[in-house]
Amino acid sequence: MRLVYSSESRLVEVNRRAELARMIATAQRLNADNHVTGFLLATPGAFAQVLEGDAANVAETYGRIVVDPRHGNLRLLAREPIERRAFAGWSMGLSKQDQTNDFIFSLYGVTPEADLYAQPADTLLDLAGELAGRIR
Ligand SMILES: Cc1cc2nc3c(=O)[nH]c(=O)nc-3n(C[C@H](O)[C@H](O)[C@H](O)COP(=O)(O)O)c2cc1C
Repeated sequence: MRLVYSSESRLVEVNRRAELARMIATAQRLNADNHVTGFLLATPGAFAQVLEGDAANVAETYGRIVVDPRHGNLRLLAREPIERRAFAGWSMGLSKQDQTNDFIFSLYGVTPEADLYAQPADTLLDLAGELAGRIR
């Protein structure tokens, strides 16, 4: 099963990077235990995430994510069966913020004006795939 959602970040800018680093470490540990893989896109205002795994594990993980106060207004954009994982090997990838990634975000139409939160699932999946390819 694959699930894609976007959300509005509630992280305060001064702590954002440290908090993100802590979150991703927790997520990677939990996901490794649950055989969940995926990718997290993070901008100052929003998150978008791809989760892949068995239906039960993905549902349990999404349940944990939905109640996390570090974001809100989650939009569940896609929930579909898949033949194979697009992010196998990623217990959870994270988009790092640098000039190249900002440029890649802009190629996919994600800019400060047209933000991550408003993008459709296909765009988010393609963007995450591109970034995962670059990070690997
Ligand atoms: C943007 C975002 C992404 C998250 N991704 C995951 C994830 O991939 N897997 C997971 O098990 N939990 C995920 N979570 C949930 C939290 O990591 C987890 O519930 C939380 O860290 C536990 O609370 P604590 O860190 O305050 O102990 C996510 C939360 C947020 C806000």
